[in-house]
Amino acid sequence: MIILKSGRDLDTMRAAGSIAGTVLSEIAAFIRPGISTLEVDEYAAQRISFYGSRSAFLGYRKYPCHTCISVNDQVVHGVAGDRMLVFGDIVSVDVGVVYNGFIGDTATTVSVGGCGVLGQRLMDVTEKSLYAGIAQAVSGNRITDISRAIQSFVESNGFSVVREFVGHGVGRSVHEDPQIPNYVDSRCNQKLRSGMTLAIEPMVNAGQAGVKILKDGWTAVTQDGSLSAHFEHTVLVTGGEPEILTWPAKEPSALKG
Ligand code: MF3
Ligand code: CO
Ligand code: CO
Repeated sequence: MIILKSGRDLDTMRAAGSIAGTVLSEIAAFIRPGISTLEVDEYAAQRISFYGSRSAFLGYRKYPCHTCISVNDQVVHGVAGDRMLVFGDIVSVDVGVVYNGFIGDTATTVSVGGCGVLGQRLMDVTEKSLYAGIAQAVSGNRITDISRAIQSFVESNGFSVVREFVGHGVGRSVHEDPQIPNYVDSRCNQKLRSGMTLAIEPMVNAGQAGVKILKDGWTAVTQDGSLSAHFEHTVLVTGGEPEILTWPAKEPSALKG
């Protein structure tokens, strides 16, 4: 069942999205060589609570961290620990916050002080595929229009979309219907309607699409060891331009209170 949001719900979704986007941009700016992924997650925890919100991920299906921090061949759901970030790494950070009962979910991939040309191209293509997908999130279109836009952009650039994880509706729960695969799946073909709030999130591998889960039970890595990138926004479907809810605030200080 797809939950359409009311005007009041949407005001709270906008606030939650803005907090998530702001925290994500703060984390991206914090990342540098020589800090551990745990330090990044601890910083994230501080910023999330600074804005009067809490992590939507901590404790979700027993997930142990505030954010997902996935390095290089790690695709998603990286578990923070004592791993040091080094120059040239690419780091995917996924932030989910709950604010007044609603969730904002957003992710980005950044390099640690710079990276090789393949990593840079992978990040560019993944981010552009996200915006190609978002452009299709218009009422009257179908989920497959989003999926196709992402898949065709990624594959025409020689990269692979991950199958095991998909985008999703988001609202009072992190994962609501519908599922939004980053590849065309005729079973996921619902019609889009105004008031749907969707987390669109391509996960793209530089090599083959396959992933496996590490022994920690969470961290997904590419089977072939290739680099992976992840970009995500929470988006409101309208009759016209999709509204991206997870931009960072222009005035973060206005968020507090
Ligand atoms: N990264 C997922 C998403 O964006 C949610 C992570 S759930 C967690 O949909 F438990 F792994 F954190
Ligand atoms: Co996310
Ligand atoms: Co998501």
